[in-house]
Amino acid sequence: MSRGVEPSAGSEPRAAAARIVATVARRGRSLDEALGIGVAGLADMDRGLMAQLAYGTLRAYPRLDRWVDLLLARPLPARDAEVHDLLAVGLYQLEETRVPDHAAVAATVEAVRRLGRAQYAGLVNACLRRWLRERDALKARVARLPEVVHAHPRWWLEALAADWPKDWESIVAAANEQAPMWVRVNRLRTTRDAWLERLVAAGGSATSWAPAPEALCLAAPMGVEALPGFAAGEVSVQDAAAQLAAGLLAAGPGMRVLDACAAPGGKTGHLLERCPEIELTALDISPARLARIRENLVRLGLEAQVLAGDARDPSAWWDGKPYDRILLDAPCTGSGVVRRHPDIKLLRRPEDVEAMAAQQRALLASLWRLLAPGGRLLYATCSVFRAENGAQAAAFLAQHPEARAVDLGEPGWGRRAGPGRQLLTGEASVDGFYYACLTRPA
Ligand SMILES: C[S@@+](CC[C@H](N)C(=O)[O-])C[C@H]1O[C@@H](n2cnc3c(N)ncnc32)[C@H](O)[C@@H]1O
Repeated sequence: MSRGVEPSAGSEPRAAAARIVATVARRGRSLDEALGIGVAGLADMDRGLMAQLAYGTLRAYPRLDRWVDLLLARPLPARDAEVHDLLAVGLYQLEETRVPDHAAVAATVEAVRRLGRAQYAGLVNACLRRWLRERDALKARVARLPEVVHAHPRWWLEALAADWPKDWESIVAAANEQAPMWVRVNRLRTTRDAWLERLVAAGGSATSWAPAPEALCLAAPMGVEALPGFAAGEVSVQDAAAQLAAGLLAAGPGMRVLDACAAPGGKTGHLLERCPEIELTALDISPARLARIRENLVRLGLEAQVLAGDARDPSAWWDGKPYDRILLDAPCTGSGVVRRHPDIKLLRRPEDVEAMAAQQRALLASLWRLLAPGGRLLYATCSVFRAENGAQAAAFLAQHPEARAVDLGEPGWGRRAGPGRQLLTGEASVDGFYYACLTRPA
């Protein structure tokens, strides 16, 4: 597959991409964190290429990693692992970009010097040239390995296949694509059609999706500063699957609403755009991430009570008055948003699925006690693993006989999964998401 990386003599962005990949794959840091470190000292013109190489290499890493192993007679010492990952960046360029082979090899060899490992320049050069000569035979040696075919860790593929025997391959294929850019038009400021006209006048185009009335999918991604009216709060960047939450919660004027895991505030803003007359508390355990909620609310010109606190321990922050609506957008594996965050598939470990499920169980149990009779609790994750979704919500209902699932009918998205509905990654071009709507009868 050919991607739009331009030929460049730049060894710096290649070295930076290798550092970023190693920071994620070996030190367990997120791609966002690693990118923040990687851009330091890099010229503006090199940043785009660095990001493209880092994203692309991480997206294909489980496959590239096996290919690099084929090229190295024996593994490199752990202290030189960045060289292994630079080779992965090199193979990514040779396999998936339009960079001419000679330019990719020369710049990657130069990059190893920038990594302070000039002693490996000959090795990197020999490996990449061997790949160009023998790639078909080399690829054939590992072509059947699941992680090579699907560019996901093997445990992940096994878990997905167990959960979705008919759909796991399409989920994985969608997760390996670059995600489209979705925006949410602020209905307090404009209409979707009026905003679309301005986008078209600015040279863009976009399509809508009926289940999410404020959502538009841009034909080509653009920087937020180029989105008409972004600074004035007329539009926000948010996947259409995430935009279903506000409609499902159905908060009306005067209701007390708790957004229990709110940062960075994407759904908080949408809830208020839909109904500014709610009394909204936006809670998050991470004080650092609360700043993002505040920034978003200021840009949108909206207000909420923003609180730091652990949703599992309401005694520390709750005023004792029940909520009419609770949104639990739970911490999860993020297995539905891998196409946006390719680092996720490298960072997660098999045991994380159950650890997340246990955290979600505790959050559900403690927040349920805060719900008013007749109220509604919307449970959401951006995961496609059943343990976090249908199985989680079904187990909750089994343990809470007083709870009922709200029948979502046939809303034109997703499929039934336990008491809620599951969107699988790539369906309707949206992220993988799960929603279950629970109520405590009055
Ligand atoms: C999926 S994100 C929420 C995304 C957000 N709702 C949005 O739409 O922008 C999950 C959030 O839960 C927070 N979180 C994790 N454990 C928590 C807890 N015990 N109490 C409150 N917040 C928690 C995390 O800090 C993270 O910001």
